[in-house]
Amino acid sequence: MPDLGSRRLFPALTAEPELSYLDAASGTPCPEPVIARLSAELRGPAANPGRGGHPWARDALRRVEESRAAVAGFLGAAYPDEVAFTRGATGAMAFIADRWGPSVLANGGEILYCPGDHLSTVRPWLRLAERMRDQGVRAVPYRRDRLGRIDPDDFARAASDRTAVVVATDVHNLHGTWTDLDALAIPPSATVCLDCSQSAGRRPLRLADSRAELAVVSGHKMFGPPGTGTAYVRRGQHHRIAVDRAAARSGPARHVSQLTDAAEEGSLDGVGAVGLASAAAFIDAIGLDHLGDHLTRLVTRFADGAAQLVGLTLLGPPVDNDRMHSGILAFALDGHVGADVAFVLERRGVYVRAGDHCLEGPREDAVRVSFHVYNDETDVDRLLQGLAAAAERN
Ligand SMILES: Cc1ncc(COP(=O)(O)O)c(C=O)c1O
Repeated sequence: MPDLGSRRLFPALTAEPELSYLDAASGTPCPEPVIARLSAELRGPAANPGRGGHPWARDALRRVEESRAAVAGFLGAAYPDEVAFTRGATGAMAFIADRWGPSVLANGGEILYCPGDHLSTVRPWLRLAERMRDQGVRAVPYRRDRLGRIDPDDFARAASDRTAVVVATDVHNLHGTWTDLDALAIPPSATVCLDCSQSAGRRPLRLADSRAELAVVSGHKMFGPPGTGTAYVRRGQHHRIAVDRAAARSGPARHVSQLTDAAEEGSLDGVGAVGLASAAAFIDAIGLDHLGDHLTRLVTRFADGAAQLVGLTLLGPPVDNDRMHSGILAFALDGHVGADVAFVLERRGVYVRAGDHCLEGPREDAVRVSFHVYNDETDVDRLLQGLAAAAERN
């Protein structure tokens, strides 16, 4: 089992022992097992998967399909053909909105979305609503409170029998808050599309049992290769996906499902697929319960230290040691712009995220830290020391 809290499996981190990388929610470094798998794939007979009948092409396609099955298992999907490889969560969400959305909304209907969610989550649906306005399609917002929790009453107000699609985020990219779909008054007829970019690799996903029939995942936030991800569409929704038959013929010479025909036009990223499967195996070997305890411990240590820092406010619900934390949290330092705080931290070897956070109009003072398996108490303490130094600069 990989050693929790150990950087030893991450060459990018062992190369810089004084660095505290606290930006996993943007992208995780690659661990040795994933690098080894990628390297083996690149060194081997990596022909274009399925593009040709010779053994190299056939074997490359077989490895893609094995990876699909492995990733589907990791996501808790019932069938591998419910998972398509994409270039990340942004590409997956745009695919679902563009190719699945028009059919379900053909006779009008409402798309519920949260304006406080990641732009990649929200924008494809707003564009779709705009394109289909004449057909009676509308985008209806629901609110998060200032700590990043969905307001269930506001959600209930926004939902109605006109709701066709609910777009939701499993773990918020700034606040790190979980979404409990079961606590929301989702109309029975609505289809839920869940952004799992920040939850995959942080909490177990059981998509087959979830209220969400559609989901997107980002591979490079869960130790996979850059520019990888998946779109999950449950079988019962496949008939709604628009396939461009001519374009689908440019894909691998093998039909997996209507989903993959549409989402995997052109050459498959076979290297990305095997890399993502090996990232999933890496996380499974750690164990998500074990990882959750580790992240909760680090966040609790940070929250305890932050409580001693004058002017620091957590931009999320109070940290509770008994409740599993996502490992992602945000804070503001009174009187300081987030980018300035990030700069001071960067000078001390602590990498965090500030700026627009890929949100519409975020607080200028918001700074996000996101812990993962390779972080330990030293990183937390370095962060706290950096923040004490930043607080003194006025
Ligand atoms: C909640 C959320 N959705 C979508 C994305 C976009 O993911 P990707 O980089 O895979 O396109 C991110 C990335 O930060 C995210 O945090």
